[in-house]
Amino acid sequence: MAYLSTTDFTQDKDFIDKWLYTIRTGEMDLSWMKSATEKISPEEANPRRGLTYRDLNVGTYGYTDIPEKVRNNRSYAPRGAEIPEGVPDAQPWVSRKSELWAFNTESYYEEAVSRQWNATTDIPWDRLDGVELPEVTGKALSQLMTFLTEVEMIATDTPAMWLPRLNPDFIEVRSFIAAQAMDEARHAEVFRKRALTTGWGLMQASPINEMALKHLRDADSFSEMSVALHLVAEGNVLTLFRFSEYLSPTDVDKKIFRLVMQDEARHVGYGMQHFKYVLEHFPEKREVLHAHLDEAENISFAGAAATELTEAFIILAGGGLKKENIEQGIKITTQFNLKQMQEHFERLDKCGMPERRQRSKLYLMYEMGRAAAENAGIKLN
Ligand SMILES: [Fe+2]
Ligand SMILES: [Fe+2]
Repeated sequence: MAYLSTTDFTQDKDFIDKWLYTIRTGEMDLSWMKSATEKISPEEANPRRGLTYRDLNVGTYGYTDIPEKVRNNRSYAPRGAEIPEGVPDAQPWVSRKSELWAFNTESYYEEAVSRQWNATTDIPWDRLDGVELPEVTGKALSQLMTFLTEVEMIATDTPAMWLPRLNPDFIEVRSFIAAQAMDEARHAEVFRKRALTTGWGLMQASPINEMALKHLRDADSFSEMSVALHLVAEGNVLTLFRFSEYLSPTDVDKKIFRLVMQDEARHVGYGMQHFKYVLEHFPEKREVLHAHLDEAENISFAGAAATELTEAFIILAGGGLKKENIEQGIKITTQFNLKQMQEHFERLDKCGMPERRQRSKLYLMYEMGRAAAENAGIKLN
């Protein structure tokens, strides 16, 4: 900013002369027309789909040949443009492909755009008119929605805070991350709207949940953030949404969970494909990924144990506070907790890290929990 802030362009005679020169003389500079860039003619691979980012994967504009360390670009020059002297340093932190690239990166953004929905108009809010939930389940639903709003606000902040740090040569990833922030803003919106339409107002914020979530913002690298957010936290959230859909007291709630799940699956999909990409292309990073997982699993395990969530879940699953309700609620909540861990390890298997089961303390917790559940007669599928 030093250059801009010490120059008053409106008072700079040379600058004004240059500005007026073309208008006065009609003489054009046109040096930009001589840019040493490639001429291409991209085509729609599928006219029904339209012109996608994948269709632009051609020559110097494409992403296939982005080297591990991007070309000498620290500005906002779009990939493939000529970069003249004098472009400012945008100070990107992430200029290595291994930090953020994923198989099918470009398709995640396209999908995000084509599957946007609207929390104001796509949810049949009017169907809640006259629906009065009993106090206990109504408050439990509101607590779940309060908790989820909290989750989604940090899920919005985390990709958003990384966005300006990503090298502009990774335009497809940047676009996906921007779309993710928008998805998460919509999730926070829909959960807040549902909490406030339960008739019971918001319930309570959760210290343990917030401490666990705050860790997502503290990651030292994009890759570490992606393991913690896309793979572990959003993986857990995906299982949570599926169970929440199952426990939904109304069709409106079911619809909300179906829509957020669709977005969440995409975020987890990107995380898995990034993880897989790193394992396949940079096998030397395997140990670093284990270290990221050690931390992320530990913290997400703590967050998942938040009383504010567990108790609300038990009540929604059991339908009330009577002894038999609570017994039934605990059964389903236990199945949910174990399923969350099981699916986490299944995702890691699919990403090419089956040895995680032997390395992870969370897997020991899972096995202990599973044995205890079976002893208590709780079946898992
Ligand atoms: Fe979300
Ligand atoms: Fe998400």
